[in-house]
Amino acid sequence: CGIVGYVGPRDSQSILLSGLARLEYRGYDSAGIAVIDGEGDLEMRKRAGKLSVLRDDLAAHPMPDGTTGIGHTRWATHGGPTDGNAHPHLADDDRLALIHNGIIENFAEIKAELLAEGFTFRSETDTEVAAVLLGREYRATGDLLAAFRAVVARLEGAFTLLAMHQDHPGLVVGARRNSPLVIGLGEGENFLGSDVAAFVEHTRKALAIGQDQIVAITPAGVQVTDFDGAPVEVEPFEVMWDAAAADKGGWPSFMAKEVSEEPEAVANTLRGRIHDGVVSIPELDGLDDLFRGIDRIIVIACGTAAYAGMVGKYALEQWTRLPVDVELAHEFRYRDPVIGPSTLVVSISQSGETMDTLMAVKFAREAGAKTLSICNTQGATIPRESDAIVYTHAGPEVAVASTKAFVAQITALYLLALHVGRLRGAVSASAVEELARELEAVPSKITWILENDRARIEEFAAWMADTRSVLFLGRHVGYPIALEGALKLKEITYIHAEGFAAGELKHGPIALIEPGQPVFVIVPSPRASALLHAKVVSNIQEIRARGARVIAVAEEGDAAVLPFADEVLRIPLAGPLFEPLLAVVPLHIFAMGLAGAKGLDVDQPRNLAKSVTVE
Ligand code: G6P
Repeated sequence: CGIVGYVGPRDSQSILLSGLARLEYRGYDSAGIAVIDGEGDLEMRKRAGKLSVLRDDLAAHPMPDGTTGIGHTRWATHGGPTDGNAHPHLADDDRLALIHNGIIENFAEIKAELLAEGFTFRSETDTEVAAVLLGREYRATGDLLAAFRAVVARLEGAFTLLAMHQDHPGLVVGARRNSPLVIGLGEGENFLGSDVAAFVEHTRKALAIGQDQIVAITPAGVQVTDFDGAPVEVEPFEVMWDAAAADKGGWPSFMAKEVSEEPEAVANTLRGRIHDGVVSIPELDGLDDLFRGIDRIIVIACGTAAYAGMVGKYALEQWTRLPVDVELAHEFRYRDPVIGPSTLVVSISQSGETMDTLMAVKFAREAGAKTLSICNTQGATIPRESDAIVYTHAGPEVAVASTKAFVAQITALYLLALHVGRLRGAVSASAVEELARELEAVPSKITWILENDRARIEEFAAWMADTRSVLFLGRHVGYPIALEGALKLKEITYIHAEGFAAGELKHGPIALIEPGQPVFVIVPSPRASALLHAKVVSNIQEIRARGARVIAVAEEGDAAVLPFADEVLRIPLAGPLFEPLLAVVPLHIFAMGLAGAKGLDVDQPRNLAKSVTVE
């Protein structure tokens, strides 16, 4: 869910709505705002559906405005996406409003207690329990902050909460445990948001709130304490991108814009980290000990980030000579993995907030492992919980399905692999020089694909709009790309799609092949490995013999695939480990083109959220 809060001299409705628009990627099944109006009354409006439903409703039936406000965009957990379950939730005779991101695990017990005391509820959400509890505590003391502290002390689970009460105009209180919340510092006004996107159009000065902390914002200032009320120090930071970076910039969708930014995402992630063929990552200066004592690397992530991790494994093993495992974060944590001080756990997360990944990082740290975060979002929770950070500099990614962050994550993993490889003496300086040059050439090769093939791939995707199922095959680094190609298609076109290791085909999936079945095959370069190439060409023949329609993603000049492919999507020549950074681009364009042809909303696909802050 996305959260925004405002106090200051300006009317807050439009500030809240534009903040929510920038946070809508976090969930978009309902939205709501509450303000304390000029008369000192609390006004609230909330609607199921996308933010536009709420906006239209407010335009048709305006609500009094006011200078203190909170807003929420929801991704449903407890209770379906209805008007009633949308946030804010009100209590204390509709004089206080509260919004929440996360899951309150002990809500049933608290609800039973409140019901027994005669309180009533209007929704099925866990959130309303916190609102009603806050109302009860406030009645007892008349002190909003003290009441808020009493509430958070009772709650278990993950939560960011914001609340305000009409007795206290000019005050918004917030708390965070395991869910994100940042403060935006303005002149005579202050903001709260799930991330900096909520307020970046008003200020680039931000404060990251730590775990288990409470914040109170007024127009005059900001006060941060722990859950017991003791003041704490918070670190200010400057937001590195401006509001324009989070706009569509003339593209029909954020996803279209973000795919077009894939070259920059790679280039910006490399920037300042390669000097004359030497890789040096400034953020890792002074942290050599973190890497020297390790004998194993485990990469944890979810979704697209996990596929970036799978690609990274090949480079990490090859260049560091350390064994590398890649695991889905939610599986890793629950199976008692064998880890300790000699394990480096590398997490990958675009948002830096994915709860499954966060919990796995905490688990790894508690088990004594070293932790390094590859993340795209400054001030996010996962990097703050890690021993070291390597930021991807892909810029804000708004479309739910990840694209430019994926290529940036692979780039960051490769830089990390070269850094650790050099420290351990596992890769020579001259090899690094050559590999660094390959990396630096990637952005212009992606640009080549976008400029030369984008239109053709989109057209091709449009022909396939009625397809019911698409398969993707790859070997070696092409395997995770097959998985990513299939995931993208599932996410934004709702077509059944599956990725397989090409070698696994004959062990089962080949039974799926029937005449006309479209199969994308990621073909490795024949120059890099004639053997691997030959094996994939044989796989193509096996499926062709059974009627499959083969779409090959192959290196320019690879003539051997031509006789067997119905369609060839070309990628420029690159070393074997660099091909994934190119081969994925046509697949991103294809998925987007097909979703567009089906008239679907590529930025906000059904049922998904970009940043899943529940486990
Ligand atoms: C969600 C998104 C995916 C994303 C995954 C990991 O499931 O819908 O697109 O790949 O989370 O997100 P992260 O922010 O941790 O990279």
